[in-house]
Amino acid sequence: MRQVIELEGVAKRYDSTGTPVLGPLTLSVGQGEALAVTGPSGSGKSTLLNLVAGLDKPTEGAVFVAGRRIDRLGEHALATFRRRHIGIAFQFFNLLDDLTVADNIRLPAQLTGVGRRKAAARAEELMEMLGIQRHARAYPGRLSGGERQRVGVARALVNWPALLLADEPTGALDSAAGHDVRDLLTDLHRAGQTLVLVTHDPALAEACASRTIHLVDGRLTRDTCARGVR
Ligand SMILES: Nc1ncnc2c1ncn2[C@@H]1O[C@H](COP(=O)(O)OP(=O)(O)O)[C@@H](O)[C@H]1O
Ligand SMILES: [Mg+2]
Repeated sequence: MRQVIELEGVAKRYDSTGTPVLGPLTLSVGQGEALAVTGPSGSGKSTLLNLVAGLDKPTEGAVFVAGRRIDRLGEHALATFRRRHIGIAFQFFNLLDDLTVADNIRLPAQLTGVGRRKAAARAEELMEMLGIQRHARAYPGRLSGGERQRVGVARALVNWPALLLADEPTGALDSAAGHDVRDLLTDLHRAGQTLVLVTHDPALAEACASRTIHLVDGRLTRDTCARGVR
């Protein structure tokens, strides 16, 4: 199996003297895996995701995504890499309120230099797939939380990323909308999308992941496949 993520001896410290908030950790995620990262608040889940996203740098070790070592890239190269290969869905959606739904979804494609037509066609395809097409011309402020998260996921997928990352994607949703997003992530996994989902909710992890890792105080305490222990 081709590895989409490889962490080699990765550790993160926020202050030079203390123990790491994460790691040292060695971990691979293969193409098509849906990995859930669970653990209590403060256990290092978001730190792990941010290192994989290239939003933060490890204090030790190496981070490879889609075969490329990213922890030594400069800001500009990282931003380009991230836009092309990594899609991120956030707890609070991070949509631009003064752009329509369709424009929010198209934006990362246009920033990557995809032509207008191709970007529009891809946005259409995603809106149809995620059931939000009727909101194409609406502004995010008019949508429900669950609909906004669908827009967030569509935007994350617009550049056909090798990897989809989601940090507490249901954290700001009521339970019905949370179930919708859960089903959406499950469908994406079935369609072959490699994804990493951070959640403190074991039920969400169980529903949509093929593998779950559990962190406590930055250390991996469990690594479980849906069909038995790895
Ligand atoms: N920018 C930061 N500066 C200092 N400490 C941080 C920073 N970000 C996170 N931490 C600390 O690192 C630990 C892990 O945080 P985090 O990865 O956000 O945990 P989780 O997502 O599991 O709740 C926590 O103790 C948190 O307080
Ligand atoms: Mg977090």
